[in-house]
Amino acid sequence: MKPSLVLMLNCLRRGAESRAAGRHFSSLVLLHQHRRRPLPCSPGGTHPRSSSSSSSSGGGSALVFRQHGAPSQVVELESFQLPSVGAEDVRVQMLAAPINPADINMVQGTYAILPDLPAVGGNEGVAQVVEVGPQVTSLKPGDWVIPRDTGLGTWRTAAVVTERSLIQLPSDIPLLSAATLSVNPCTALRMLSDFQTLQAGDTVIQNAANSGVGQAVIQIAAARGFTTINVVRDRPEFNQLSDRLKALGASHVITEEALRQPHMQELFKTCPKPKLALNGVGGKSATELLRHIQHGGTMVTYGGMSKHPVVVPVGALIFKDVKVRGFWVTRWKANHAHDGKAFTDMLDELCTMIRQGKLTAPVCNQVELGDYRRALEAAMEPYTSAKQVLVF
Ligand SMILES: NC(=O)c1ccc[n+]([C@@H]2O[C@H](COP(=O)([O-])OP(=O)(O)OC[C@H]3O[C@@H](n4cnc5c(N)ncnc54)[C@H](OP(=O)(O)O)[C@@H]3O)[C@@H](O)[C@H]2O)c1
Repeated sequence: MKPSLVLMLNCLRRGAESRAAGRHFSSLVLLHQHRRRPLPCSPGGTHPRSSSSSSSSGGGSALVFRQHGAPSQVVELESFQLPSVGAEDVRVQMLAAPINPADINMVQGTYAILPDLPAVGGNEGVAQVVEVGPQVTSLKPGDWVIPRDTGLGTWRTAAVVTERSLIQLPSDIPLLSAATLSVNPCTALRMLSDFQTLQAGDTVIQNAANSGVGQAVIQIAAARGFTTINVVRDRPEFNQLSDRLKALGASHVITEEALRQPHMQELFKTCPKPKLALNGVGGKSATELLRHIQHGGTMVTYGGMSKHPVVVPVGALIFKDVKVRGFWVTRWKANHAHDGKAFTDMLDELCTMIRQGKLTAPVCNQVELGDYRRALEAAMEPYTSAKQVLVF
């Protein structure tokens, strides 16, 4: 067996990574500490608030899990009463919320950070402000808002949360773009900006290119003039998928199998070898990305969809001095929590791209809340190339 450095991908397990992320995990626990049985009324805010508040702000429904397990079995639609709106609180009505792989892993109990149970599922989505407390200064009824951080529990019709747990978003962008903005496009933008100095004409290679992250990478890279090599798993509809990704701006779309073929050298006569590789899969797929990366290049791992460890060929380290890095947008947000402007600047940049028609939402299936079991199952189906989004 060739000597190799096997890097166990622990990010989907509660292990070293969750201990490293201890500060964030504790804050998530704090967010959810009032989520003891019965169902929490408010997902946000670190100040305890009684669910038996004298004046309720009405009711709602939420997708709740009271134990970890298969999402379509443990997630239930439950009704709840909202607490009254406190001085620094905001009452929101959810408009749309996606089902992301991390949400699924949280329900399964395999994600790096987990809420106390019972918990409302979902970490991303867009809501509209309905009512604000007297000390709220940055938001008003009608504003669109998204969660500032992971752990808000967005699979619900309504919520009362603290002002500081939300960020305002302009309401002149499409609803699905707003609902899917704060995780995948932010991840794509950071990975294209923070790991290698790239210039127009440089090449980026990525696997899971049809994922939400991958589609954002394609579009942001195209806007910056980068060549992208986009790797997807083979499928009967490969040509349609390839055409769709090329319409987004993909330079090349190839299958995992083609990536291993000698004719890749032909492709590299038309563009430089990649300075940056983005890995959302792990396993053999990640190893193949590393084989094509140029001297001194970087591979950033952000996901482990295959659930296999990343194997780094020794030659890539010794002879090419590649850097093997990781990225977690939750950690980026925690690291920049003191500088709210960093996050809002990034959202402004992405919204500008959306308005210019340079960044569109991933292909989405919009699903009514009552159809949640079908949506949860569809979110775990392979080869769908579409994001399930709950609409309220
Ligand atoms: N680190 C971070 O900050 C961060 C941020 C956002 C997302 N993520 C992670 O990034 C990954 C993608 O998220 P997303 O929301 O973009 O996903 P998504 O839109 O739901 O797409 C899932 C992707 O994974 C691929 N896939 C599924 N199982 C696979 C397997 N066994 N082998 C290879 N590919 C497989 C799918 O390809 P097929 O079409 O071939 O099934 C599809 O491209 C997830 O692991 C997510 O947790 C991480």
